[in-house]
Amino acid sequence: MATIFFAADGIRTQVDNGSRLQDAIDSAGASILFGCREGNCATCMIHVDAGMENLNPPTDEEQMTLLPSELDEGVRLACQCRVLGGEVTVRAAD
Ligand code: FES
Repeated sequence: MATIFFAADGIRTQVDNGSRLQDAIDSAGASILFGCREGNCATCMIHVDAGMENLNPPTDEEQMTLLPSELDEGVRLACQCRVLGGEVTVRAAD
């Protein structure tokens, strides 16, 4: 099992390893919005406060949509993330 903490909402939830982050956001009712859900629109930009090592590496879509500097600062697209294990802390990006 993996743990996700939605920092802005104070919600902690557990999911199976490898789960899609967007499914966890939908289930938990976390305040992170989606648009395309395909990595193109950047509506779902999040900041990973902790546990980046527990997410899949950035997808091709993230590398196309996000700036290299954003990726370096811990920004990801929630629709492209899978939680591999451990614990991650995320919040909607400013
Ligand atoms: S919802 Fe469009 S990039 Fe994630």
